[in-house]
Amino acid sequence: MSDSPQAIVTLNASVVGIEAVIAEASDTAAVTELESNALGKNGPIMAARKAIGEVAAEQRKDVGKQVQDAKVRIEAAAQARRDELAGSERAALLAEERMDLTEVLGTPSVGHLHPLTQAWEELEDTFIGMGFRVAEGPHVESDWHNFDALNIPKGHPARDAFDSLYVNNGEEGSTVLRTHTSPVQIRTMLTQAPPIHIVAPGRVFRRDTADSTHLPVFHQIEGLVIDKNIGLADLAGTIESFTQAFFGSGFTSRLRPNYFPFTEPSAEFDVQRPDGSWLELGGCGVVHPNVLRAGGIDPEEWSGFAFGFGIDRLLSLKHGIDDIRDAYTNDIRFLQQF
Ligand code: DAH
Repeated sequence: MSDSPQAIVTLNASVVGIEAVIAEASDTAAVTELESNALGKNGPIMAARKAIGEVAAEQRKDVGKQVQDAKVRIEAAAQARRDELAGSERAALLAEERMDLTEVLGTPSVGHLHPLTQAWEELEDTFIGMGFRVAEGPHVESDWHNFDALNIPKGHPARDAFDSLYVNNGEEGSTVLRTHTSPVQIRTMLTQAPPIHIVAPGRVFRRDTADSTHLPVFHQIEGLVIDKNIGLADLAGTIESFTQAFFGSGFTSRLRPNYFPFTEPSAEFDVQRPDGSWLELGGCGVVHPNVLRAGGIDPEEWSGFAFGFGIDRLLSLKHGIDDIRDAYTNDIRFLQQF
């Protein structure tokens, strides 16, 4: 083939050179450019193709195939390099476009527990520190646990004081949304042998219209101690210890006579602030023998005291909240203060 045209003679060397350059191309755009130059009208393939006419007739078929093979080799080299680059270009793109969703802009704001939950947990901690255990009872309660067992029989005037929400379940009037946490006293006595030292925080329900000091759904914490020879002095001492542990050593407490069906004698307990002012906190008393009997406990052998007060009310008093409804509107500007 010594008499072959120049373009045919140099074709193989040109293709080898182009393959080498394509294999080194740094991105897919460069590969495409090299490929189209090599196959374009000024490239070695077109030059060789044009030269086929000058080749001796009996060699044209072979030379034609040779040119066609050269074209296929360049296309294959370009495709191989493109495939190679595609993977790493995609990886680079992903790395570049990655969004750091953990990025914090400005000062991070950290949430906190609702003030009621804080008060609830502080109360539990205080009573646990005094040797109490935490007990629970259901929100939907039997009329018997909520009233009868607590010495409030049907027709007793004290029932009127608890504007009950009855639940349509079984016999009419047999099921209520508990109006206080006191039924947990009964449930505990029925499932636990004395001595008993429990507190029972929880949600309670009354047929009340919400105003600045009342909510139809609110929270109480109940306390019950049953042991040998427990009396009013133990109650007063426990209330005083609680007052100092929870409010601080500058606070003190007093009991004022009152009436509750489930205790005898009964009292209201007040807490005195360091400035001398008093706040009424809740009710308490020595557990009525009928209540012990309803709980399956022999009043000749055991005695006890109980107390109960509102957690929402405690919260209002502690923080000087004028309108208790504010605590439940979930307005972040209000909640952030606590
Ligand atoms: N259950 C009463 C109420 O909701 C509060 C109360 C008073 C609880 C005296 C007691 C108690 O355990 O001894 O108004």
